Amino acid sequence: MNDKRLHKGIFITGTDTGVGKTFVAAGLIRALKLKGINVCPMKPAETGCRIRNGALFPQDAVTLLKASGAIEPIDTVNPYRLIHPLAPAVAAEIEGVKIDKNKIYAVYRHLSEKHDLIIVEGAGGIMVPVYKKYMFIDLIKDLNLPLIIVSRPGLGTINHTLLTINAARNRGIDILGVIINHSAKIRKDISVKTNPEIIVRLGGAPLLGTVTFTNKPVGEMSKVFTRIASSILKYL
Ligand SMILES: Nc1ncnc2c1ncn2[C@@H]1O[C@H](COP(=O)(O)OP(=O)(O)OP(=O)(O)O)[C@@H](O)[C@H]1O
Ligand SMILES: [Mg+2]
Repeated sequence: MNDKRLHKGIFITGTDTGVGKTFVAAGLIRALKLKGINVCPMKPAETGCRIRNGALFPQDAVTLLKASGAIEPIDTVNPYRLIHPLAPAVAAEIEGVKIDKNKIYAVYRHLSEKHDLIIVEGAGGIMVPVYKKYMFIDLIKDLNLPLIIVSRPGLGTINHTLLTINAARNRGIDILGVIINHSAKIRKDISVKTNPEIIVRLGGAPLLGTVTFTNKPVGEMSKVFTRIASSILKYL
C-alpha cells in the first residue's frame, strides 16, 4: 500500500454475483460503527431493482444504509438504479439510462467529506461493466480504493479468487484481503477445508475471515465481523 492513511474508503467486490457482498458489507459496517467509526455505504449502481410504491427500490443500498445508521438520502448512497438484473452497463443500455462516472466520483467525494469511511459495494465482480467499456475495476482504480474480495467457500473458488486478485494487482489496486462467505448451507467437503490455505499461499493476500452460514440476522454475527473490522482498521 502506498500511503495507508490516504484511504477513506474500501471497495467490496465478489468473485461473482450472490456471493454475499451485501451480507458481509452490512456486517462490517455494523462492526465498524460499533468501534466508533462514522461509516457510510455507497452502492454506485444497483440493478434488478423491484418497483415499490411506484419507484425503483434498491434493496442492497437500503440494507447497507440501515446498517450504517448514516443520515444520507438514498439517492446519494445509490445514484443509479435499474430494473433489469444485468450488469449496470447492459441494463442501462436497455433502459436508456446514461451512467456518468463523474457523477459517481462526485457522490463519493461528497460522502467522504462527511464521513470517516465509505464502504462501496460493486455489482457482481470487478470485470463487470458499469457503463459502456468502463468497468468496476476502472472505478476502483479511479477512486483509489483498496479492495476486499468476498469469495465462495467450495470448489471453483480458487480459480475465481486468484483471477480477481491477479486482475486487481495488475492494475495496481491494493488488496486488503479475502473474506470467505458461506452464503448457502453446503456440505463442508475437502475443498472447503483446503481452499483458504491455498488461496492465501497462491494469491498472496491475507484471509481476513470466514463467515459461516447463519439463519440469524447479520447483526447477530458480530464476533467475526468485529475481528475483521479490527484487522482492516490497521491498514487504513
Ligand atoms: N453468511 C451467510 N449466512 C446466511 N445467508 C447469507 C450469508 N451470506 C449471504 N447470505 C444470503 O445469500 C444471499 C446473497 O447474498 P448477498 O445479497 O449479500 O450477495 P451479493 O454478492 O451482495 O449479491 P449481488 O451481486 O446481487 O449484490 C442473500 O439472500 C443473503 O442474505
Ligand atoms: Mg449485493
